Amino acid sequence: MNYNKWLCKNTHSLKGKTVAVSGATGGIGKNLCDFLSMLGANLVCLDRNFQKSNKMIADLKVKYPNLSATHITVDLEDIDAVKKAATQLKELKIDYLILNAGAYKIPRHKCDSGYDNVFQINYVSPYYLARELYPKIKSRGGRVVAVSSIAHNYSKIDTNDIEFSNVVASSKVYGNAKRFLTFSLYGFFKNDETLSVVHPGITLTNITAHYPKFIFAIIKHPMKIIFMSPRKAALCIIYGIFNGAKTNEWIGPRLFNIWGIPKKRRLNSCDPCEAKQICEISDKIYNDITKETVTN
Ligand SMILES: NC(=O)c1ccc[n+]([C@@H]2O[C@H](COP(=O)([O-])OP(=O)(O)OC[C@H]3O[C@@H](n4cnc5c(N)ncnc54)[C@H](OP(=O)(O)O)[C@@H]3O)[C@@H](O)[C@H]2O)c1
Repeated sequence: MNYNKWLCKNTHSLKGKTVAVSGATGGIGKNLCDFLSMLGANLVCLDRNFQKSNKMIADLKVKYPNLSATHITVDLEDIDAVKKAATQLKELKIDYLILNAGAYKIPRHKCDSGYDNVFQINYVSPYYLARELYPKIKSRGGRVVAVSSIAHNYSKIDTNDIEFSNVVASSKVYGNAKRFLTFSLYGFFKNDETLSVVHPGITLTNITAHYPKFIFAIIKHPMKIIFMSPRKAALCIIYGIFNGAKTNEWIGPRLFNIWGIPKKRRLNSCDPCEAKQICEISDKIYNDITKETVTN
């Protein structure tokens, strides 16, 4: 694929704009940061691993000597750290916030906040950041881009177990969290195209490399051939920066949400009653978090 040609046609310069990216050190995140640097954006990388983030920024600066990039260390499992990051981001005059970090098949436990860690990484923390940053981003004419997943479609919510803590399958907990993220944001942004929800398609990264070692050794190469590269997957997020999504619209690869260049499409995977429940629960979660003071 000719990336330069696609970028010329679908984007413009981001010179003077500041873009905060969570999960910048991940498979899709690194490629996204490369594109953003190419477009002249200033980067703020929201990563949990200081060394990894530093190395990624150093590598980018070799390729793009004029790049302005910094990072904020934040583990999305730690709600106090997320609150501090939100405060720092408000001071940094962020134009675009990319909620890209995610985790799938990781050991499960309760975070200090009381939420399941997969639920918190994929939904509670990014939702909180979106709400905190929204007024400033809106006033700057920027956008919040939430990275969702097709997996949201396989996990209808359970109001008796909102975080799916009684569910064993990681795929369901992850899908439930992405469902909350997607429909809580539609509810909060209410057709305001300051929001964009994207699905990057399926691509081989750490998040998809969760199989037992032996099986993964066999399927790794076919997966690389069958699915898109993380670089191509990152284009959906780039497209989301330049194109807002109204309620129940999202941006994903054009062929079955798995392959191809980005396209905006209608999302009919949640009925209004469930969407309303998600919004009510999300408001309560946000209010509970904002009420608690940062402890350290
Ligand atoms: N790959 C796919 O097929 C696919 C499909 C649908 C949706 N997505 C979504 O795309 C996004 C990017 O995923 P990816 O494929 O690039 O996966 P990845 O390579 O595993 O990257 C995930 C990123 O999230 C970060 N992260 C995980 N847990 C975190 C935590 N507790 N605190 C802070 N950061 C944390 C990781 O940090 P470290 O680098 O420190 O590990 C990494 O940078 C995710 O939201 C994912 O759900 C991916």
